[in-house]
This record gives sequence, C-alpha cells and structure tokens, in this order.
Amino acid sequence: MVPPLRIGLLGLGVVGSAVARALIDKADLLTHRVGRPLELRRVLIRDASKPRSIDPSLISANADDILDDPETDLIVEVMGGEQPAHDYIVRALRAGKHVVTANKEVMAKHGPEILAIAAERGVDISFEASVGGGIPVIGPFKLDLLANEIDEIRAIINGTTNYILTRMATDGTDFGTALAEAQKLGYAEADPRNDIEGIDAAYKLAILGSLAFHTVVRPSDVFHEGISGLAPADFRYARELGYAVKLLAIGRANDGAVELHVHPALIPQTEMLAKVDGVFNAVTVRGDLVGNILFYGRGAGAGPTSSAVIADIVDLAHRTMEGTARVRPPAYDDRYRFRPMDEVCTRYYLRLLAADQPGVFAQITQALGDARISLASVIQKQNVLIGDPAVEYAEIVLMTHEAVEAPMQRAIRAVASLPAVHSIGSLIRVEP
Ligand code: NAP
Ligand code: HSE
Repeated sequence: MVPPLRIGLLGLGVVGSAVARALIDKADLLTHRVGRPLELRRVLIRDASKPRSIDPSLISANADDILDDPETDLIVEVMGGEQPAHDYIVRALRAGKHVVTANKEVMAKHGPEILAIAAERGVDISFEASVGGGIPVIGPFKLDLLANEIDEIRAIINGTTNYILTRMATDGTDFGTALAEAQKLGYAEADPRNDIEGIDAAYKLAILGSLAFHTVVRPSDVFHEGISGLAPADFRYARELGYAVKLLAIGRANDGAVELHVHPALIPQTEMLAKVDGVFNAVTVRGDLVGNILFYGRGAGAGPTSSAVIADIVDLAHRTMEGTARVRPPAYDDRYRFRPMDEVCTRYYLRLLAADQPGVFAQITQALGDARISLASVIQKQNVLIGDPAVEYAEIVLMTHEAVEAPMQRAIRAVASLPAVHSIGSLIRVEP
C-alpha cells in the first residue's frame, strides 16, 4: 500500500472548507483515482469560537501545530493576505514540506523568491488556484505553452467585478447590491477593495505575465484602475455603440517591451470576451506556435477553487509517489523592458457634461486636437438640468482614434478646465 500524502490545511473559509469537504467526502474516490490516500491531518483557523462543519479534533488555532508537525508532507495555504501567509509558506518550504497555495497576493509579490527557496530545499510550490479559479491556466502556461513566444494575453480574471459588471449591465442592479451578492456567494476578497480597484486582477496578471513573458513581473509593473468610476450611463451608451464593458487584464509584448494593464474596457459585443458573464473568467493567449487559445470557466467560488487546489494536491501526490516532486523553477530571461502606461496606445470613449451652447463642441475638439487626439465619432445625448436653470447642459459621448495615454490624459485635463465643461463623466479605453 502506498503511504498517504499527509496534508496540513491553513484556512477553513470559503476555499478551505470546500477543500476539506472534498478531501473527506471524496476520500475513497480520490484514493482510487490518485493511487494513494490524501489524508487531512490538521486545519488552522483564526477564530476558535466559529462553528465548523468538520471533526473538531482536526482543528487548531496554533500554526505551530501544523507547520512543525513532522508527520505532515504538504501544506495547503488558503488563508489569504500577505502576512502571516507568506511567513507560513516560507516556513513550510524551509522545513522540507511541499506547498499548495491559492494566494495571488503572496505569489505576485514574492513568487520568484519563494520558488527559489522551494528549489533550494528540493520541494515544490504549486499555485493553480491563484488565477482563474477553477480554470486550469497556470499548468498550461508552465508546460503546454512553454515552446511558444507569447505576445498577447487578454483576460477577465476577477469573478467579483465581472459579476458586478454583468448585473449592472443586464439587470440595472446598483453597484452596492451587486457587490453584496458577490460577497454572499463567496467570490470577493476579505477586503473587496482588492477586487473593485483592480488590485486582485493586477496580482493575477503579474503571475500570468511572469510565466508568459519569462520576465519577473512585480505588481508595481502592472497599471491598474478599478470599476468604481463607471456609471449606469456608460453601460447604456456602450450597448448602443455595440460594446460590452469589462474589467480587462492585458499583457502585450512587442518591440522589446511588455505592457501590463488592468482597467475597464469597451469590447465589441461580437468578441468572445464580451460574452463572458457573471463569475466566469476567460483568458485568451496568442503564441507563435499555438496561435490563439481561450481558457474559460468559473473564476471564483468554493467549488471551482477547491477543484484547482485539489488538482495541485493530486499532482504532488503523484510526483512524490514517483520521486519527481522537484521541478525546475521558471527560467526567466528578462528580455523585455516594461512599457509605462503613459506610452500605451489605444482608443478611448469619453463621456462629459458641457454647456449646450454654440461653439462648445469646437472648444472641446480644439483642446483634443492640440494634443493630437483625433475624434472618430461624437454623439450628443440628452440635455441635463443641473443647478442654474438658465444654463442647459448636454451629455456628450466621444470616441477617439488611437492615441497615446500621456497626451490623452493631458487633453482630458485641458477639456476639464474649459469654462463650458461641467465635468468629465468617464474615460474608458476601447479594445482592441
Ligand atoms: P476566507 O473565506 O476569508 O477564509 C480565510 C480563512 O483563513 C478563514 O478560515 C480564516 O480563519 C483563516 N485565517 C485568515 N487569517 C488567519 C490567520 N492569521 N491565522 C489563522 N487563520 C487565518 O477566504 P477565502 O475566500 O477562502 O480565500 C482564501 C484564499 O484563496 C485567498 O488567498 C483568496 O485570494 C484565494 N482565492 C479565493 C477564491 C474565492 O473564490 N473565494 C478563489 C481563488 C483564490 P477563520 O475562519 O477563523 O476566520
Ligand atoms: N476575489 C477573487 C475574484 C477570487 O473575485 O476573482 C478568485 O481569485
């Protein structure tokens, strides 16, 4: 009989509970399929007063009970946050234990160093659940796509924001209600600002970008902007113009530089990414050998994420059984410089409120023209009454041709300073 793989679980929240349940409820089936038992030895929690649905003898609020247990082969970290999760992962690796984690923050901020520690200690750390929930995406980047020169990743990699955007666009649900629903469904981070402000997606893009472009990408190399500035009017206009609004994570390599940015974007409704709704995520990749591929599935939630965590456990159970657990850490060649957001080129959708008077359009187009921003289309929508009833304001929507970010931002400041302009409603980048 092959000995069991003995597992210490750090965290018993949304993901940890689903992992524990699957290891317990599917024990026989997993033993049969894996070829050895997966034994849940101990589980770390923080708050001992919370009711739990697993055998209380497995539970501890003392990390040492699990990390110092010589009978544990593998630590599964599903606590979240940078600390103490980072310290516990490093402690486990240094003690010669394999690690599986769903923690994108730790892997995005410290991935290269952690992988080096694992290699030095002859153990492995796997992180499939850190990006894309239940979608197998890390494995394919590490293995199946390795022979490719990847020049583009475009992805929806945050389930919470995609759920919120879908609810706002299709049912007119307000932002707060949609966020509360996402939290109730177990999709959101402990601090949901990480989701809303695009930080979680930036961590994930840093992880994918490092693997795809063979370059160490830190979260600070990824520009991010969240969804909180979007208004119901943007969804209405986007639909009328033939677009969907999505929080996109984009990585592009060309001319010796790579650009990585996360922000709301208008995508033509005919594109596959525009049809990715609710908690679903999708990652599109373009490689020189494989061409275009699409990964699609549920990007958050207990079930899908536990599926990815258990996939990593099973992989390690197999490899430790065969004595080949150690893998070579990613070979970075750091061939790219990072293109700052200021140099990124794209088209823009601009919504603003301006006095409905003769000559105002001309002033706006002049301010844009001075920054060499050329307009593709101008749509003046309904008039709006604000404050002084003697002045009528019109909501104006503009679409630009391709422009570089820095001059576009300068032009927006110039437009905003025009006396006839009441306010800039939103500036959204348009893909592709
Ligand atoms: P969660 O529901 O907040 O659960 C966190 C668990 O960790 C809780 O059981 C908590 O203990 C425990 N914990 C937190 N800090 C601790 C500490 N200092 N000491 C001991 N225990 C501590 O979080 P989650 O949604 O399961 O997410 C866990 C990780 O998976 C995060 O890295 C997250 O980004 C990642 N992830 C989540 C999803 C998802 O859909 N939720 C998907 C992919 C990846 P108590 O129960 O005592 O509070
Ligand atoms: N909060 C994350 C999301 C969890 O909504 O995508 C999955 O990583």
